[in-house]
Amino acid sequence: MTLLAGRTAVITGGASRSGIGFAAARLFAEQGARVALLDLESAGPEAAAADLGPEHLGLVCDVRDKNACRQAVDRAAEAFGGLDVLIGNAGVVYGTPVMEISEAEYDQVLDVNLRGNFNMAQAVIPHMRGPHMGARNSGSIVLISSIAGQVGGGLFGRSHYAAAKSGIFGLAKALARELAPDGIRANAIAPGVIDNDFTQGRMTREIKDDIATKIPLGRLGTSGDIANVCLFLASDLSSYMTGTVLSVNGGLLIA
Ligand SMILES: NC(=O)c1ccc[n+]([C@@H]2O[C@H](COP(=O)([O-])OP(=O)(O)OC[C@H]3O[C@@H](n4cnc5c(N)ncnc54)[C@H](O)[C@@H]3O)[C@@H](O)[C@H]2O)c1
Repeated sequence: MTLLAGRTAVITGGASRSGIGFAAARLFAEQGARVALLDLESAGPEAAAADLGPEHLGLVCDVRDKNACRQAVDRAAEAFGGLDVLIGNAGVVYGTPVMEISEAEYDQVLDVNLRGNFNMAQAVIPHMRGPHMGARNSGSIVLISSIAGQVGGGLFGRSHYAAAKSGIFGLAKALARELAPDGIRANAIAPGVIDNDFTQGRMTREIKDDIATKIPLGRLGTSGDIANVCLFLASDLSSYMTGTVLSVNGGLLIA
């Protein structure tokens, strides 16, 4: 089964090989999509895209920069002849207690996790609905939030991260309402604790193992677990779903 045959996708924060974005890109490519990986220069998006194959694209794009988002998305849409899917995945996290969060750290966390998705939505929408050339009056926007946005952080991310990730729920729901008449769906995913390099070693193996004992399914998630749900929301399997939040956490939050 090729769920994304002929489709095209833009994935932000997609260059990190152990990350959710790259796992989604690989799965989308296997399912027939052409993928544009957008990431910081330091993450090497061109090399990451080359690992997927020659039909994919890697573009340097800091999602905090609205113009950079527009330029990268326009380039991808032009190269692919249209755009069907956005996976808004770029994110940063810090476990800083509230009174120690500097303005600069607050701005970085809010701007990457929340404003970045807003910037990207503004960049992709014209390609998904008319009158832009190649617009299809269809599309799927998938924003990667976090369990931190549901329970107020607490596992690693603190107040700024929880606020940004909660904001993603509102953003996804508002986009869903506003864009439904154009055939564009918008949904959010709230991953639990994923065993990858996101915290850059700041969450130790010991802490992760301790969290695993509290997860009903008995293990941390993998980037692939989240990529599978990205595929579901990106594809027509979820054609009647918009404005939802899918919790993918092994049962860590059963509400
Ligand atoms: N790993 C977890 O436990 C976990 C849990 C819940 C939610 N999430 C969310 O999943 C998403 C992906 O994270 P991951 O776990 O794959 O970690 P990751 O570190 O592998 O991926 C994050 C990516 O975002 C990129 N990025 C950072 N700042 C950027 C910017 N300004 N512009 C563009 N790209 C930027 C990084 O270079 C990296 O490739 C994030 O939004 C994160 O908040 C992760």
